[in-house]
Amino acid sequence: MLSSFTWVVLVQSLTLLQLDPAHSAPPLGAVVHVVPIETNGGKTVRAHFMVAAANPCPDLTGVCAEGEEDCKVHPTTTPFTGTKPGPGWCIRRWQKTIPSNYSATFELGSKVTWDVFIRTEATVRANTTKLNRPPYVALPPPLRATAGCPHRINLSLLDLDKDPVRCRFARADQGECHGCTQHSFIELNEEKCMLSFSGEASAGQYSVMLMVEDLLPQSKLSSNEDPKPLSSIPVYLSLTVEEASSSGCSAEPVATGQSPLRDTRLIILPYEQVNLTATFTSELESVVEIGVVGPPELFMSGLMTTETMSTKEVTWVCAPNTLPPILPICFSANTNSSQSEPRCIWIHQRETMTLPPGTS
Ligand SMILES: *[C@@H]1O[C@H](CO)[C@@H](O)[C@H](O)[C@H]1NC(C)=O
Ligand SMILES: *[C@@H]1O[C@H](CO)[C@@H](O)[C@H](O)[C@H]1NC(C)=O
Ligand SMILES: *[C@@H]1O[C@H](CO)[C@@H](O)[C@H](O)[C@H]1NC(C)=O
Ligand SMILES: *[C@@H]1O[C@H](CO)[C@@H](O)[C@H](O)[C@H]1NC(C)=O
Ligand SMILES: *[C@@H]1O[C@H](CO)[C@@H](O)[C@H](O)[C@H]1NC(C)=O
Repeated sequence: MLSSFTWVVLVQSLTLLQLDPAHSAPPLGAVVHVVPIETNGGKTVRAHFMVAAANPCPDLTGVCAEGEEDCKVHPTTTPFTGTKPGPGWCIRRWQKTIPSNYSATFELGSKVTWDVFIRTEATVRANTTKLNRPPYVALPPPLRATAGCPHRINLSLLDLDKDPVRCRFARADQGECHGCTQHSFIELNEEKCMLSFSGEASAGQYSVMLMVEDLLPQSKLSSNEDPKPLSSIPVYLSLTVEEASSSGCSAEPVATGQSPLRDTRLIILPYEQVNLTATFTSELESVVEIGVVGPPELFMSGLMTTETMSTKEVTWVCAPNTLPPILPICFSANTNSSQSEPRCIWIHQRETMTLPPGTS
């Protein structure tokens, strides 16, 4: 039998294990885009996973089992990296075919752990006779705020079936997250999918685990009971709250008219090129970087700064790919002490040359 002393040591080391950030850390952000596979009635889906992780960038060894069919790791993180919040971040992505109800814990490198819980019960839409398509959530560059300074973040969502979409906090009692905590200083507007940070938190990194769900339009009207969603998709966000500066809350950078409007949808044809300009102005403090998260093979210019404006050019060519038909691009500007609202646009690959599962 173990002595009580041994127990104390055991419990203490377990507690340390959990708190030690070098051991295992949540991602700085994570989303999954789910595409139902029509040919088997939606029993399986192709899932495109995307994770923002703190540096050093984790490798994805082990994400695909050996010989696993239709499992593919995107080899490079470029150009999706940034320096803020410190010590900087990178984007990692992979795709695989999974059952429509799925839960798993991904261990990336030895550092990042992400619990995934997906429920996309195959529902055939009455009017289209096609499978329901789960909503898409755009992953913003890692989120920053300053202690004492209220901040709001709108998530960008898109549902191809035009269903109403809502966000809610993930629930531990439903198995959707492990050890998830809600923070009193982060509020969620479920209908608008908007997060409000009250400012009343000390410096640190705070996790926000959400489920995004699409509902049948009519289920919104009979609002007495909680409507059953068509699908539930996990979203992991992390808000890094930085020390208040002596100068108080600084004005956030603002996107100018040259930048595409929020949630612009661009329909593009095979081999067409998308050209975007992300431009921000910032009073007082200059922009030090514009963080971008988008599809593989995106090309970005360096940061071009004039006295009043900071600009980044972004282009993407629609070459044959195995990516989802809908691809978000999000960007936000960082100054040393603040961050702009993230802004996202959506590329719709029109005549998709998306290759069927299993091909490469
Ligand atoms: C998937 O989960 C939903 C909700 O829990 C359940 O109703 C459905 O039967 C499940 N489908 C499969 C194929 O397990
Ligand atoms: C199918 O029905 C939904 C509402 O249930 C509607 O939003 C959508 O536009 C319809 N699609 C077609 C192709 O008629
Ligand atoms: C978020 O979106 C709402 C509209 O849904 C808008 O009124 C608000 O200004 C936006 N907030 C930010 C910080 O972008
Ligand atoms: C994007 O820029 C390229 C090169 O300047 C040009 O050939 C192309 O037509 C542009 N695409 C669009 C949609 O304007
Ligand atoms: C931002 O902070 C870094 C490191 O403290 C400093 O070197 C740099 O000059 C600052 N940039 C601006 C624009 O304030």
